[in-house]
Amino acid sequence: MKTAAVAPFFFLPSTLATTIYLAGDSTMANLGGGSGTNGWGQYVAQYVSATVVNDAVAGRSARSYTREGRFENIAEVVTSGDYVVIEFGHNDGGSLSTDNGRTDCSGTGAEVCYSVYDGVNETVLTFPAYLENASKLFTAKGANVIISSQTPDNPWETGTFSYTPTRFVGYAELAAEVAGVGYVDHGAYVAAIYETLGNATVNSFYQIDHTHTSPAGAEVVAEAFFKAVVCTGASLNNVLTTTSFEGTCL
Ligand SMILES: *[C@@H]1O[C@H](CO)[C@@H](O)[C@H](O)[C@H]1NC(C)=O
Ligand SMILES: *[C@@H]1O[C@H](CO)[C@@H](O)[C@H](O)[C@H]1NC(C)=O
Ligand SMILES: *[C@@H]1O[C@H](CO)[C@@H](O)[C@H](O)[C@H]1NC(C)=O
Repeated sequence: MKTAAVAPFFFLPSTLATTIYLAGDSTMANLGGGSGTNGWGQYVAQYVSATVVNDAVAGRSARSYTREGRFENIAEVVTSGDYVVIEFGHNDGGSLSTDNGRTDCSGTGAEVCYSVYDGVNETVLTFPAYLENASKLFTAKGANVIISSQTPDNPWETGTFSYTPTRFVGYAELAAEVAGVGYVDHGAYVAAIYETLGNATVNSFYQIDHTHTSPAGAEVVAEAFFKAVVCTGASLNNVLTTTSFEGTCL
């Protein structure tokens, strides 16, 4: 006669075992870019059944985030099934002739530049190359990567709505395509919602400059990200606690 095996106890993985890592600049960082401003990463947790780790740091570009080992730090802790959202662009422009340590090599492919920064002759990559390189690190760990386009500067700054995506928006899309990871045009969704909200409301979000928003602005920017996720069908859909966000799909 067979003895019935004692069923072992299993701990069912909770959805909160999923972690979303956020890699970006001040527009995403907790406490944003200065007094009275918040980054949108601060408002992500309320929409997801996942742990949110906001690793965005003010002043960073795709290049400086790479050089400082910040993508590597995330890669060390990310596990299969986690998400990494990468959003840069605000600090990636400028000229290498007066190198601030953030400017990328111009171009969209495998071009390299050399620049002596901080006493080191640094090999500088293009913006898409940094994002592709980072994406590879994470997908190798089984993580889901979403490259997100940068937020717009205040498109109502002049009193008339005007949104022109920077070149880094197109570069972000290209990087996602080349790396074979998800892409959301966050910038376009923020702009669309801002257009609806109008001049007075949107200008009230920008009290210190045209890049960093108030907490109320950051909440709208976070909602726009999830609207883009829902409309794009990005993998992050799986951990959303709601799919109802204001605005229309673009
Ligand atoms: C690629 O990314 C890794 C991790 O961020 C970094 O250590 C490495 O330097 C990057 N490669 C280049 C050429 O920048
Ligand atoms: C930096 O390294 C590159 C590639 O080896 C080289 O061509 C360039 O001359 C170096 N620049 C300086 C200032 O040493
Ligand atoms: C837009 O909003 C700003 C700030 O509230 C205000 O000063 C300006 O007069 C408004 N412009 C228009 C065209 O309504």
